Amino acid sequence: MTSSNDLSKLEADLLSEIAGAADLSAIEAVRVSALGKKGRVSELMSRLGSLPPEERKGFGQTVNTLKSKVADALDARKAVLEDAALDARLKTERADVTLPVRLGAELEGRIHPVSQVLDEVIEIFADMGFAVAEGPDIETDAMNFDKLNIPAEHPARQDHDTFYFSPKPDGTRLLLRTHTSPVQIRTMSNQKPPIRIIAPGRVYRCDSDQTHTPMFHQIEGLVIDESTHMGHLKWVLQEFCKAFFEVDEVKMRFRASHFPFTEPSMEVDVGAEAIGKPGKWLEILGCGMVHPNVLRNCGLDPEKYQGFAFGVGLDRLAMLKYGIPDLRPFFGGDLRWLRHYGFGVLDVPTLGGGISG
Ligand code: DAH
Repeated sequence: MTSSNDLSKLEADLLSEIAGAADLSAIEAVRVSALGKKGRVSELMSRLGSLPPEERKGFGQTVNTLKSKVADALDARKAVLEDAALDARLKTERADVTLPVRLGAELEGRIHPVSQVLDEVIEIFADMGFAVAEGPDIETDAMNFDKLNIPAEHPARQDHDTFYFSPKPDGTRLLLRTHTSPVQIRTMSNQKPPIRIIAPGRVYRCDSDQTHTPMFHQIEGLVIDESTHMGHLKWVLQEFCKAFFEVDEVKMRFRASHFPFTEPSMEVDVGAEAIGKPGKWLEILGCGMVHPNVLRNCGLDPEKYQGFAFGVGLDRLAMLKYGIPDLRPFFGGDLRWLRHYGFGVLDVPTLGGGISG
């Protein structure tokens, strides 16, 4: 049996060990030796079962009192030692508040210029009430060409240097879409006007030099309603260019052109002073009024509905706006390039904050 003398001695021993603990590891060692699973106080508790029943209650209470005294003393001593440890650290460490903020790992990552420009363009068109639509990269001949009024013998089919998959047993062939225009067809076939969408995505053509890569990005635009006309088209593109190049006025030139899916068709050049090259014109997109055949191919009555479409090269926009001379490294995965031309994760384009931050 453990006498009350033994218990008092144990208490005195433990309290003096606690008071004498000089640092945090010493105090932890005392805690383990007293209250740990095999500690001196815990051992006492395990003796409870061997006591005569009439003594158990009193003994249990005494040990519990001892236990909480020891625990309190441990906490108090630990708090003192922690304060002392902090004081010692503060004496040796210095913080120079004039140093620049050090980047965390998440801030060292870079947003690719194509992603950044895509966000910019979406922000601008969303503000004008456009929704974002998407279509698959793998398309049918019908979607990529026929329904867009580009018949099999049309030279545009050759111009596009299409990547074809092997023909299926029934003779039809899938292909990698050569432009985002098929999303026009998908949208008009699935939803009733009024339609106001942009469709960003990857497109593919067998082509490679300083300004061409086999995969690149386009954004298609489509507006269909009962009274949409070319004035709307010009206004939308003008507003887009002003917002995108972040200038009050942009000189624009609408040049007559030809696309099978629009009539009339135009290509748009911007005066390059917007990007610091006065006197030059830069082509940025193709556009036009949607051809009645295309409307008909999607089940829309061209007597009732009309509208406009446009297609912009996204990578080209990024090159123009941010002065990037060569397209190929866009897709080279070179981190040095990305660190140089990329954007911080917090540079989120907003109209309120200034599109490019
Ligand atoms: N799809 C055309 C191309 O890739 C670009 C284009 C021109 C899209 C005129 C249009 C448009 O929607 O109206 O060359």
